[in-house]
Amino acid sequence: MKVISTINELQSTLKSLSLSPVGFVPTMGALHEGHLSLVRTAAEQSPVVVVSIFVNPTQFNDKNDLKNYPRDIAKDLGLLKNILRENDIVFTPSVEEIYPVEDKRVFSFGNLDLVMEAKHRPGHFNGVGQVVSRLFDIVKPDLAIFGLKDFQQLAVIKELVRQTGDKVKIIPHPIIREKDGLAMSSRNMLLEPEIRMNAPLIYKTIKQASLMIRENDIPEIQLMVKRNIENLENFELIYFEIVDDTELKPVENRAEMIAGEKYYGCIAVKAGKIRLIDNIEIGLV
Ligand code: PAJ
Repeated sequence: MKVISTINELQSTLKSLSLSPVGFVPTMGALHEGHLSLVRTAAEQSPVVVVSIFVNPTQFNDKNDLKNYPRDIAKDLGLLKNILRENDIVFTPSVEEIYPVEDKRVFSFGNLDLVMEAKHRPGHFNGVGQVVSRLFDIVKPDLAIFGLKDFQQLAVIKELVRQTGDKVKIIPHPIIREKDGLAMSSRNMLLEPEIRMNAPLIYKTIKQASLMIRENDIPEIQLMVKRNIENLENFELIYFEIVDDTELKPVENRAEMIAGEKYYGCIAVKAGKIRLIDNIEIGLV
């Protein structure tokens, strides 16, 4: 694999390789098995894969969160070396390379900008839109893989691509979990041991919610979720919403749900000082 940090070298390397389709996996590093699974899928589908590692400052509305975000580039490269092939590229640009001037673009993602993560992290998806559109312009991928772990981000990126008319194909990837069910996340390593021990209850709870939908209405399910999570010391429920899979409109009552349509139960939890998100498909069968 090649490790490249400038746009010029990246583009001239891709040009001289002249392979297609170009597969792309954008990441912020601190790689775990979830990221690596996206990389493997990209490699199965493309003769050349670009994996970017860039902690994007514009998507952090909390400066402390940006400062504490885990970074270990040497470890990341070691993990990628086991998967990537001779022609694949790890792109590790500096902030100046991605943003030579301040990015002042303001995107409009409609309802996607109003619910769940958007409500609690103002400006976050605008920053994601900025960096992903910038990276797409630089890499010019034919396909790009995004994890369903960040369900709302995936919807935002699909909308971004729809708005820009970019030809890149967006491929969703299932959530990769630890053996105990906790969705893998770079933030998991920041959890204190006791909090980490209790964190699998997040997935257990949304799994229970997905079963309860057969016989219970949504307010009852939301109450169960809140009780389950807040029974744990130092756990706080930020939201649990059941939403449709494109516009992410929250469904308030089971009667609004249409059999056969896809819905997702999305949860955000403050576990100690760390914010964790997860989701599960929920539907009337
Ligand atoms: P990051 O959190 O590093 O995630 C990179 C990609 O890995 C995203 O598509 C994310 O959904 C996926 N991913 C993370 N954990 C996963 C898991 N347990 N299972 C499946 N996929 C998982 O998401 C970002 O970075 C950034 O916002 C980015 C898109 C790179 C823009 O800066």
